[in-house]
Amino acid sequence: MRIEMENVVKDFGKVRALNGIDLQIPSGRRIGLIGPNGSGKSTLAKILIGLLSCEGKVRLDGLAPQADRKKLAARISYIPQVAPHFAAPVREVIRLVVSLRDLCPSSASSRAAGAWNWTSTPSPNDRSDTCPAA
Ligand SMILES: Nc1ncnc2c1ncn2[C@@H]1O[C@H](COP(=O)(O)OP(=O)(O)OP(=O)(O)O)[C@@H](O)[C@H]1O
Ligand SMILES: [Mg+2]
Repeated sequence: MRIEMENVVKDFGKVRALNGIDLQIPSGRRIGLIGPNGSGKSTLAKILIGLLSCEGKVRLDGLAPQADRKKLAARISYIPQVAPHFAAPVREVIRLVVSLRDLCPSSASSRAAGAWNWTSTPSPNDRSDTCPAA
């Protein structure tokens, strides 16, 4: 996916998290963002996936992360730095993602089963369907 940013600025109140970012990343590249704590890596990632608005121009294959969010969501995966805590069984979370992202349920189900196979975690059938108490 081609990523373009032009003069991207993001302020949180008086804190300027991003100060005029210009980026051109051609499709097919693997990139990493490296920088000290608070330098704006997560902010930039959240802008790319449309979770945060910003000033300036952002395009992913020519599409805007917020205006074209639905089209882009089917093509983007995001693993947050801190996992959100869902008080729901894994099965329900998978169902939610399948429905939000308009995925094929049977394909998602077989991928989930495959994921269990390459971890050392017991099969979902051997586990309780509820989250352990925190
Ligand atoms: N929701 C927010 N509200 C206010 N300030 C924020 C918010 N998110 C980020 N910031 C501020 O924006 C700046 C950039 O933060 P960001 O989390 O993007 O940095 P980071 O490079 O991902 O840091 P880390 O390496 O610690 O994950 C920091 O000064 C941070 O305090
Ligand atoms: Mg971060």
